Amino acid sequence: MTTMELIRHRRSVRTFDGTPLRAEDAEAILAFAQKAENPWGLPIEWRLLSARASGLTSPVISGTDAWIAGKMKAAEHAEEAFGFEFESIVLYAESLGLGTTWIAGTMDRAAFEKAMDLRDGEVMPCVSPLGYPAGKMALKETLMRKGVKADSRLPFGQLFFDGGFDRPLTEEKAGPAAELLEMIRWAPSAVNKQPWRVVLLDGTAHFYEKKSKGFAGKDGWDLQKIDLGIAMNHLAAGLAERGADACFTCADPGLPAPPDTEYMASCPIGRTDA
Ligand SMILES: Cc1cc2nc3c(=O)[nH]c(=O)nc-3n(C[C@H](O)[C@H](O)[C@H](O)COP(=O)(O)O)c2cc1C
Repeated sequence: MTTMELIRHRRSVRTFDGTPLRAEDAEAILAFAQKAENPWGLPIEWRLLSARASGLTSPVISGTDAWIAGKMKAAEHAEEAFGFEFESIVLYAESLGLGTTWIAGTMDRAAFEKAMDLRDGEVMPCVSPLGYPAGKMALKETLMRKGVKADSRLPFGQLFFDGGFDRPLTEEKAGPAAELLEMIRWAPSAVNKQPWRVVLLDGTAHFYEKKSKGFAGKDGWDLQKIDLGIAMNHLAAGLAERGADACFTCADPGLPAPPDTEYMASCPIGRTDA
């Protein structure tokens, strides 16, 4: 599959067929995860967990015993780093035919954190089940997907901008960059809020976070920054397929931004007509 096909084919899988995770798939995922990296260079420890062995539960997942979880030191950019690196694992799992679901909330968090031996100063932002998708979704899953409109995304012109937030970008205008932006558009996000906004300026994609109410904690932890890391990963995956390395830097172009919209990072994607 091409990167675009992988991205378009992936969906959150919450109903699995009961087949235990095959040893070769478990080994492949763990080997991939151990080599995975993120642009901030923050180390993340990945572990495969057994629900039965560690007493793990999630009210939204059925039909699999296998989980993957990651933990890291709490640090600046931890959310983006975690989002970026976990999404590379999610897309790799998809390439193996495995189902996943990003889970930050609907799980017995205490049990997962215990299974991960979480220490003071460490965070375990999200976990995911791993398994083989069932032929038919449980009713609960169908309803959840409807509730967050999981099969759709905001239109191109609401997410991507041509040199400034006052100029929505069209696919035609984006030219060769349109497919890369489309890969970002289809990223998964918490409650499908899609907080990423990208301004294309002089061949560089500037990422911003459009904050929704209720996602940032008092401790400074911001779940939607994980979504930004996921979006950046999709751009990196698209660039990698074109033989280019994604180079994320902090290069705030100082553009006027709408309220609750925070600059995050920039990545050159080559000059386009935009
Ligand atoms: C950071 C993050 C946290 C999420 N947390 C949960 C969760 O706690 N429970 C859940 O059922 N889905 C969770 N999701 C899955 C989203 O609801 C899902 O990605 C979104 O609705 C889009 O649907 P799709 O993944 O099928 O494309 C989360 C997704 C992300 C990116």
